[in-house]
Amino acid sequence: MTDGIYDVAIIGAGPGGYHAAIRAAQYGAKIALIEKENLGGTCLNWGCIPTKALYASSKLIQQIRDHGEEFGIKCDMKIDFSKAVERKNKIVKELVDGIEALEKSWKNDVFKGHGRIIGGNIENGFELAIEGDHNDAFIKAKRIIIATGSSSKLIPVFNIDHKKILTSSDILHPEFKEVPKSLLIIGAGVIGCEFANIFATFGSKVTLLEYLPLPIATEEPMIIRELMKKFDQLGIELHISQNVLSIENTGSGIKVMTCSAKIPNNEIKEAEKSIFEADYCLVSIGREKNSSNIGLERLGIETIRGAIRVNPNSLETPIKGIYAIGDVTGGLMLAHVASYEADIAIANVLSSIGGFPIKPQTTDYSVVPATIFTNPNIGSVGMRRADAKDKNINIGMGKFAYASLGKAKCMGEEEGFIMVLANKENGKIIGASCIGVEAPELIAELALAMKHGLTVHDISEVIHSHPTISEMVIESVEDVYGMAINRRGRPNFNI
Ligand code: NAI
Repeated sequence: MTDGIYDVAIIGAGPGGYHAAIRAAQYGAKIALIEKENLGGTCLNWGCIPTKALYASSKLIQQIRDHGEEFGIKCDMKIDFSKAVERKNKIVKELVDGIEALEKSWKNDVFKGHGRIIGGNIENGFELAIEGDHNDAFIKAKRIIIATGSSSKLIPVFNIDHKKILTSSDILHPEFKEVPKSLLIIGAGVIGCEFANIFATFGSKVTLLEYLPLPIATEEPMIIRELMKKFDQLGIELHISQNVLSIENTGSGIKVMTCSAKIPNNEIKEAEKSIFEADYCLVSIGREKNSSNIGLERLGIETIRGAIRVNPNSLETPIKGIYAIGDVTGGLMLAHVASYEADIAIANVLSSIGGFPIKPQTTDYSVVPATIFTNPNIGSVGMRRADAKDKNINIGMGKFAYASLGKAKCMGEEEGFIMVLANKENGKIIGASCIGVEAPELIAELALAMKHGLTVHDISEVIHSHPTISEMVIESVEDVYGMAINRRGRPNFNI
């Protein structure tokens, strides 16, 4: 720190903020990282990591239950959810401690408390107040990065009481160790479907209510149909086009009233209603941005439905010297996007201060992989078929089923497929979707190919080790031109 001023103060230590702090320190900057809860943010404490730990338990249950005997394992399986929760809690703690140690190793000052910008400007530096449990601290910084993330949407009509009507944070609470006999999930998006898979596997009777005519509307319809086959087998009941009118905690459980989402508002009163009852209700209908009470109003920083407006290229807000990254900007609400934006913001922040070995950078969201940890996993990147049609791109599609792959057969992982879309004009990969084992890892290879403008031929020239799941990629890109080795012959085209 020079003259008592930090180079950068970062508010929020999720995958955007903690990453930004370390990246900046790597370039030699003096950093203040402000966080009111544990380091790691939603991703590490209430999102990606705890769900993936529980997912891993549910996956093991499904593997043993569905394939145990065939694999030569006979056992009387007893499931103890509380053990799975304890394992999850331990993983979270170890990773949170790990981030604390990392920040310390880079000599970043971590302030525990609620950070608020109280004034200042780019010329003289900004002042921040950090309201702690016992006392307040005041610091100064040349630049600020806001990385305060998002929280579950708390719409009043949903009556979220955190007892029977829960958010994803409630259900991931370290002390939530009960498998509900029945669980009603409102919102069949990413969170809803991930929890449906986990709790149905642990033995809950799961019902999903979705407002739209299909779940996870952002993914390829073919991929979703494949997931729904699996949800059927797990006994998950999906009701689409449901307008939730009320949710009530009845004492012994919850009661939800819906009508068809197709009914206009002025006809709802007379419309036919459906009633759903369960022990618990999980509300997963999206997230809202954490942008209040951090001093934005005082500085005149505008928000749109809670999202901080930033220059999409530099991530700077309209107030020079203050940047925002991650969920709070209302962009793609993904941990890996927040971390990517941290790198861009740090490059721009440090180059604007000067004296650091880094140049300004602009964002590029053309290739953003997405993953959904249901069983089977889903991974996707780039365009869907409908996007390509909207853009009038003449596409070639390659598809390959796990059931045709030797390694997948050996693993007992024959469910699902990968589909790759290429531009027929030049053979470049423009998108890919996959459902099946290691789908997100396969998509990583295709994301790299897309980012660097590679063609299907460029990928098929790369030797892929045998027997591996990565051969799904080579088979699917070769199938784009009808030449997958392990797929029956079909008409091809030349690109
Ligand atoms: P989401 O936007 O993925 O899904 C919300 C779903 O709720 C949508 O299908 C929507 O149509 C539905 N919905 C909205 N209002 C409704 C209503 N009144 N009644 C019934 N259905 C209604 O949001 P979600 O699942 O809450 O996730 C939040 C964010 O976190 C997303 O941006 C997601 O990408 C991210 N996330 C990412 C994960 C990953 O990368 N694996 C895991 C979990 C979350």
